[in-house]
Amino acid sequence: MTQPQHYELLIRDGTVIDGTRAPRFTADVGVRAGQVAAIGDLSGHSADEIIDARGRIVAPGFIDAHTHDDEALLSQADMTFKLSQGVTTVIVGNCGISAAPLRPALDLPMPLTLLGLPPDRRFPSFAAYLKALRAAPSSVNVGALVGHSTLRVMTMAALDRAANGDEIRAMQAWVQEAMEAGALGLSAGTFYPPASHASTEEIIEVGRPLSAHKGLYVTHMRDESDKVLEALEETFRIGRELAIPVVISHHKAMGKPNFGKSAITLPFIRETMQHQCVALDCYPYDAGSTMIRSDRGMLEGRVLIASSTPHPECAGRELDAIAAEWQVSKEQAAQRLQPGSAIYFLMDENDVRRILAFDETMIGSDGIPVGDSPHPRLWGTFPRVLGHYSRDVGLFPLETAVWKMTGLTARNFGLQGRSTLKVGHHADVVVFDAATVRDTATYAAPAQAAAGIDCVIVNGVMAWRHGRHSGARSGQVLTRTPASAA
Ligand code: ZN
Ligand code: CU
Repeated sequence: MTQPQHYELLIRDGTVIDGTRAPRFTADVGVRAGQVAAIGDLSGHSADEIIDARGRIVAPGFIDAHTHDDEALLSQADMTFKLSQGVTTVIVGNCGISAAPLRPALDLPMPLTLLGLPPDRRFPSFAAYLKALRAAPSSVNVGALVGHSTLRVMTMAALDRAANGDEIRAMQAWVQEAMEAGALGLSAGTFYPPASHASTEEIIEVGRPLSAHKGLYVTHMRDESDKVLEALEETFRIGRELAIPVVISHHKAMGKPNFGKSAITLPFIRETMQHQCVALDCYPYDAGSTMIRSDRGMLEGRVLIASSTPHPECAGRELDAIAAEWQVSKEQAAQRLQPGSAIYFLMDENDVRRILAFDETMIGSDGIPVGDSPHPRLWGTFPRVLGHYSRDVGLFPLETAVWKMTGLTARNFGLQGRSTLKVGHHADVVVFDAATVRDTATYAAPAQAAAGIDCVIVNGVMAWRHGRHSGARSGQVLTRTPASAA
């Protein structure tokens, strides 16, 4: 029996799911100086604030493995859409698009527009971006990737070709700068126009500085439909040539002819994991969301407009209805609505479930925090996995669900000292009710906080309680290389 101690925060009698996939156990959790100070029977100990967690799950705060919150962290620093789900860390800079480095004068092409970057908020270097995040902390922690499309926009005169030697050297220098500043790695989005003309060789060369830093290569692959297997091969090759871990973003099999293909992609991924470091994430919905595209393949299913710069009044409406009203084709209507974002129903629920249930799949929202009608994944991803898929559908036990949002993700992104509940770790903690946790965000009403999330603690500070933001902004910038070594 240890001597009674005093804590800032004492979470009493909760059921701990520690983020390692170990079976749950009953314990008290004491928090002091931003850290988990004790886990066990702490009866007789005292605290400034006591949380009664009887009948509740106490888990590490969730990591959103895939976000586009680069700019939101600064302009919507309370990050309610994430915090209210139990998310305490977001990974930004995905799909090849990052907020830095960019020059003020640059005209940004889609999909860089999805970040919602005002012209006066551009960061001339990755270091300047991280400095701004540190100077004005948000309510969640952040780990950041530098985007290959951003670097192309920054260094190339024309984007409709592969980069030449000088341009590759310029991009390499930016990757080096980002890694030294504390980036977790490089993301690419060869699916998108600004990077679709980049060759595999270009990405390998641009990514050279990653090898020495053990940075990650994170990819929105060139193809997630007919040629998804070729795209996986390209991804693995990049990882092998640079000898670095790769992360496949929002894995899916898109379009009717490809329904069921996850039965082939997942064994291929598993096989490759025997030889090299591969990770993947997934969001728990059968619809995706990205920039408004006018190519037929993207428009063959149901399409909902999420935001449109020239036609903001069309947000939340079906593309079919807009096209009918304007008496034009779907493609023409889509062109008129650009730039903007849309929701595409192009996946099979069976693939979504198979990918989510795959052992190594992390949870990432891919939420886009702009406009009034975002995809509901922005607010609902984590409670949807905990409530709908784990509890109601029974896809996997709650211990596994939590692990996919915490321990697994921290391991893959090299985030140390948090994301599992352990003495000495940073106190990112969520307390929730396993019986009632659920997503309430829908396509019709997407901006809805989850049900069943009792409280969320970020670096030992209470940030969300009883459905309310405390106003705390205790998020930190998480770097792959420890600050002392940078
Ligand atoms: Zn993407
Ligand atoms: Cu994305």
